[in-house]
Amino acid sequence: MAAACRFLACLLLLVALPTSMVDGLGVNWGTMATHRLPPKTIAQLLQDNGIKKVKIFDADSSSMSALAGTGIEVMIAIPNDMLATMNDYDAAKQWVKKNVTRYNFDGGVDIKYVAVGNEPFLKSYNDSFTNITFPALKNIQNALNEAGIGDAIKATVPLNADVYDSPASNPVPSAGEFRADIRDLMVQIVKFFSLNGAPFTVNIYPFLSLYGNSDFPIDFAFFDGTSAPVFDNGVAYTNVFDANFDTLVSALRKAGFGDLPVVVGEVGWPTDGDVNANVAMAERFFGGLLKRLVAKSGTPLRPNMDMQVYLFGLVDEDAKSVAPGNFERHWGLFTYDGRPKFAIDFSGQGQNGMPVGAKGVQYLPTRWCALNPAATDLGQLADNVNFACTYADCTALGGGCSCDALDASGKASYAFNAYFQAQSQNGESCYFQGLAMVTAQNISQGSCNFTIQIASSAASTSRRARLVVLLLAIAAGLLM
Ligand SMILES: *[C@@H]1O[C@H](CO)[C@@H](O)[C@H](O)[C@H]1NC(C)=O
Ligand SMILES: *[C@@H]1O[C@H](CO)[C@@H](O)[C@H](O)[C@H]1NC(C)=O
Ligand SMILES: *[C@@H]1O[C@H](CO)[C@@H](O)[C@H](O)[C@H]1NC(C)=O
Ligand SMILES: *[C@@H]1O[C@H](CO)[C@@H](O)[C@H](O)[C@H]1NC(C)=O
Ligand SMILES: *[C@@H]1O[C@H](CO)[C@@H](O)[C@H](O)[C@H]1NC(C)=O
Repeated sequence: MAAACRFLACLLLLVALPTSMVDGLGVNWGTMATHRLPPKTIAQLLQDNGIKKVKIFDADSSSMSALAGTGIEVMIAIPNDMLATMNDYDAAKQWVKKNVTRYNFDGGVDIKYVAVGNEPFLKSYNDSFTNITFPALKNIQNALNEAGIGDAIKATVPLNADVYDSPASNPVPSAGEFRADIRDLMVQIVKFFSLNGAPFTVNIYPFLSLYGNSDFPIDFAFFDGTSAPVFDNGVAYTNVFDANFDTLVSALRKAGFGDLPVVVGEVGWPTDGDVNANVAMAERFFGGLLKRLVAKSGTPLRPNMDMQVYLFGLVDEDAKSVAPGNFERHWGLFTYDGRPKFAIDFSGQGQNGMPVGAKGVQYLPTRWCALNPAATDLGQLADNVNFACTYADCTALGGGCSCDALDASGKASYAFNAYFQAQSQNGESCYFQGLAMVTAQNISQGSCNFTIQIASSAASTSRRARLVVLLLAIAAGLLM
């Protein structure tokens, strides 16, 4: 009898496991890379790992085609540089027709949200989008409503956590308020969200709290407790994610919308490009976050909440701006070519295993670009390395990063190879005034990987384009 019960329990466990995926879990799929994995490969990667929600940064038709029929729920977006256009209601209607309604059929794309802009009120944007975001939001939601799909598809605005804060004199979550310079605007936007049943979307980055402040207690960035919690009205905050989220909840309460649903549009930890950006810390961060999500424990001000979260990000993007920091190109759960970087359990059960990698990835030929050991005139070396790093990704070379340990000639080779690969190994791209040479020998050293780029669809298109030009030239020659 007891054995039978144990057998039954075991059976139940087996049945229960595959459905125990963290419910609200999504991932951000950014495409700012010199070589992109084909959208179909990405869609397969998401499905193989049981990821059911994805957030993209535009409405690119190739991404949308790949997601069609997968059942993956999608947040599409209007980039900041299109916000001004969307202030015109007819343009907004066209956008909705072309990029939402078009996919709204059985076997189409399961669009759930339209993100209007991306962090448009970021302080560093100097108010460039302050006056045009709310009109664009209203136009898009109204166009969705007019098209008869506004009940199922909501417009929101992913905002940076710098739209709210607590006064320096009382830096606790309960003192949270919307930033003074945009407070009235934020209250109007929040009211509009509430009226339309749309969520507030916020990006929260504990890594940036640590990056910006050397006094920041490292433990407070993670989820495994801290020796020095922050006390707020008798509540002990042990991590900055909760503290930040509840600062927003307090701001919403003061605006009169304390129950407005909140979606975390981005949260993550980079693995290179800074002393605190590495695989071990990322694994610790995501592990703690996922355990929290599956426990549905919420935050002190929103206990027992089923938090909706989009992890940032899916794959590394070697063409992202490094203005915020060199870590920007290393947010991927997966490398640029879709290999998992560390163990993570998307079900939040703590059974950490490596995720499934991308399948069928095609690479450029196995060859690298290196500093030519026979080169004697090194006077131009610094200029050439500088040139390479302006147009390719050298962020792994910085202090405390994965290629920091290389000597000067190793670093020069790394830079040359990065450029050579970014240029799809084109012939002239490994010249550098005679300082460089192509080699078939793997010049990777220790933790520093000298990569071979993927043969991306973008690269093959340009090869095709060149071929067409060549054929046209031949045809023209024959006609003359
Ligand atoms: C639809 O979205 C794409 C990709 O973001 C954009 O280039 C295009 O302009 C949009 N269409 C309209 C009609 O606005
Ligand atoms: C914002 O202003 C600062 C200082 O004037 C300037 O350095 C920066 O380039 C500006 N940023 C944008 C996005 O306009
Ligand atoms: C935004 O609108 C306000 C009020 O109309 C105006 O004072 C301000 O100059 C505008 N800001 C920008 C950046 O256009
Ligand atoms: C080059 O060597 C590194 C280890 O040093 C290895 O991880 C990598 O897979 C190799 N690259 C190729 C393309 O074989
Ligand atoms: C280095 O990159 C190659 C692809 O270019 C990959 O096959 C290999 O696994 C990577 N090695 C490490 C240690 O990341």
